[in-house]
This record gives sequence, structure tokens and C-alpha cells, in this order.
Amino acid sequence: MSDTPGPAPSPLGDAKPDVVLQVQNVTKSFGPLKVLQGIDLNLHAGEVLGLVGDNGAGKSTLVKILSGYSPQDSGRLLLDGEEVRFRSVEDAAAHGIETVYQDLALIPQLPVYENLFLNHELTRFGPLKVLDKRKMRELTRQYLDDINVNVPSIKAEVGQLSGGQRQAIAVARATRSDAKILLLDEPLAAMGARESRLIIDLVRGLASSRRVSMLIIDHNFAHLFELCDRVNVMQNGRVTIDQLTKDTSLEQLTELMISSYRRQLEQAASS
Ligand SMILES: Nc1ncnc2c1ncn2[C@@H]1O[C@H](COP(=O)(O)OP(=O)(O)O)[C@@H](O)[C@H]1O
Ligand SMILES: [Mg+2]
Repeated sequence: MSDTPGPAPSPLGDAKPDVVLQVQNVTKSFGPLKVLQGIDLNLHAGEVLGLVGDNGAGKSTLVKILSGYSPQDSGRLLLDGEEVRFRSVEDAAAHGIETVYQDLALIPQLPVYENLFLNHELTRFGPLKVLDKRKMRELTRQYLDDINVNVPSIKAEVGQLSGGQRQAIAVARATRSDAKILLLDEPLAAMGARESRLIIDLVRGLASSRRVSMLIIDHNFAHLFELCDRVNVMQNGRVTIDQLTKDTSLEQLTELMISSYRRQLEQAASS
């Protein structure tokens, strides 16, 4: 595999003043299957970075490594320039990395405000540790207002909300604490145009107002183009294209991807 392409040159050059997360030469195999063959990727402060690649390209595998769910085989992760090794999802969260999974992880039978505080419930001091529901409701109202998320009522059960509203609650929950980095694995999957719009606006708002850095996986190039400051393309276990969206058009990016695939097919055929 000597003729597979190396890391894509960064459109930002060597200047990395505000890189919050660096992924260096990360590999991961499942048995004989080499899924990640040396991933290099940089995430900047307040940036929305899109990650695309075929089904099975290893995108979710990378997210699981970054979220502390499973370790890489080799390579390094650096947070603000310091190498980190996460022992668990909780450990990654303690470092400011939160993940919104495809399968949401909300509890449909609980109201919005309890979901927002899931595993971080506020309790009052007293002989019995009681949940401070009033406080939780107050903070929920405040935070959802802050980030412009509208739900019919914060006492509504999450199961009664639309898919877009549920996803918005999942994003709100992940960012309510001090998340610096938010990983979103296909947050727009199975969402209609209006619902996607809700999430796209939320993500853009969080990136600019709270300087949260986002890594977003999505199949839809048009979505990504609108959502992201930069797009990385994963092919054959590596990042092969790293492109600022402002410097390119949707058509150019699509063409870039197609020609990159073609090149790799030719290389594979001739090796
Ligand atoms: N825990 C696992 N055990 C074995 N194979 C896995 C595991 N997780 C993912 N894979 C395989 O790794 C490849 C990449 O999967 P994934 O990261 O989910 O891709 P993507 O998210 O880009 O569609 C697939 O071939 C998948 O079957
Ligand atoms: Mg996936």
C-alpha cells in the first residue's frame, strides 16, 4: 500500500494558532480489516468541520476513538497541544469532548428538562438528596432560550417531540456543560428539510456564540457545504481532501471527490 496518498495538505498551511484537537496518524483495525490507516486531522476553535466518506469508510470508528469509547491502535490525539489518552467516554467528557450519537441516547418518557440534566442532575442539600426540579427547569428554560431552541414545553416528554426537536435537545444536552468539542455522527439522518434547518442553525449558532468546535458527519454534501467551515474527505482509511468551504463551490468539491476516487481506483488497479 505504498502508493496510497499521504495526508492532504492543510488549506490553512502550517499556522495552527487555534488548533484545539489534533489527530496524528491514527490507525485502527478490526481483525484483518484495516479501517483507519493513518488519520491526520485538525480541528480549530469555533470551527465546524465536516467529515464525509463512503459507508464503511471508518467515520464512526474515528468518532468512537475521539469520544473515548474505544482506543486507537496507534497514533496520537492532542488537545490544545497536549497528548491525551482517554480511558472512557466520561474521561473524554471531562476533557470537554461530548458526542451526539446517531441513536440519540435520550429517554423518551422523561420531560425535556430532565433529559437535559441526565446524569448531571441537580440536587439540593437536605436529609434526603432531592432533585432540584425547579432549578433544573429554570436553567433549562434559560439555556434553550440562549441557544434559540423552541419546544412546546420543557415539561413535555421528549418522546412527544418531533425528530428535529429531539435532536436539538440532544445537542443542547451535550453542550450545556463546558463542552469545547462536539462530535456529531449523522445528526441530520432521517430528518426533513425543516428539521435539518433547525439543527443547522443551532450548530452554526453554537460554533459562533460559544466557540464550540464541531466535527460533523453527514452524507449530504449540500448540508455539509452549508454547515461547515471546512470539509475533510476520508478514503481508504485516510483523509485525502481538506478543503475550506469558502474557497470552493459545492460542484467543485463534488468534482474533487470524484476525481480522488477515480485516482485511487486506478492506483488500486495498477498495484
Ligand atoms: N466493533 C467492530 N468490530 C468489527 N468491525 C467493525 C467494528 N466497528 C466497525 N467495524 C467495521 O469497520 C468499518 C468502518 O465502520 P464505520 O466506522 O462504522 O464506518 P462509517 O461510519 O464510515 O460508515 C466497517 O467495515 C465496519 O463493518
Ligand atoms: Mg457511521
